[in-house]
Amino acid sequence: MINFDRYKIMKLTKVESTNDEVLNLLLSGVKPPVVVTAEEQTGGRGRAGHKWVSKPGGLYFSIGMRSKGLKTDSKLIVLTSLPVAETLRYYGLNPRIKIPNDVYIGDKKISGILGERKSDFLIIGVGINVNQDSFPDEIKNLATSMFIETGKVFDRNDILYTFLKEFNRLIDSPDLAYDRWVKYVSVIGKKARFTYKGNTLTCEIKAIDKDLNLETDMGKFNIYEIFGFEEL
Ligand code: BTN
Repeated sequence: MINFDRYKIMKLTKVESTNDEVLNLLLSGVKPPVVVTAEEQTGGRGRAGHKWVSKPGGLYFSIGMRSKGLKTDSKLIVLTSLPVAETLRYYGLNPRIKIPNDVYIGDKKISGILGERKSDFLIIGVGINVNQDSFPDEIKNLATSMFIETGKVFDRNDILYTFLKEFNRLIDSPDLAYDRWVKYVSVIGKKARFTYKGNTLTCEIKAIDKDLNLETDMGKFNIYEIFGFEEL
């Protein structure tokens, strides 16, 4: 276990999912905030039951914290796309945030975030495609990496530390994050389709307010409760 800033960090080589590893550490009494990274995941999980391809070369980590209640946790899970986007920008990329909390370069996904609330804890898992030079056939047209975008190989420790510094800014001043976050979100003025409380809706996004409600021509919908968001 190493210390960086306020975090205890455990670096592992091959695990099923870093989200599970961090939960086990917290349940065994390790005090949050704690971070687990892995070189590779055999059962990397994405949102909505998807898998997250986690071959060597990517950065896979989870942050374990004490839960602060459903609303605060949900907001943090959505806004964690901000430190990811700021980190990518720091290394010279031009990211955008796709609702709810995916990070894209152009029309390809470079990072995904999976928040889970278990027991008294909030676990935020982040996958960033860093040095991969290719992806399996089923996602090769949908995914990109920092290497593919820039032709450069990056130090994943350095990226983790840059991310954690940006994440601290988010935790310490969540109210200041909205203005920075909304600039990365690329859907205002566009049409979108998504599922909300079991209904699939197609509408035009007019704005996003500070409580992270999408304001649309069909009403207001909170981002936390939206599934399958597609820009049209
Ligand atoms: C998504 O876009 O659907 C979310 C992907 C989240 C992937 C990360 S990688 C580290 C952590 N461990 C997991 O099993 N998933 C998250």
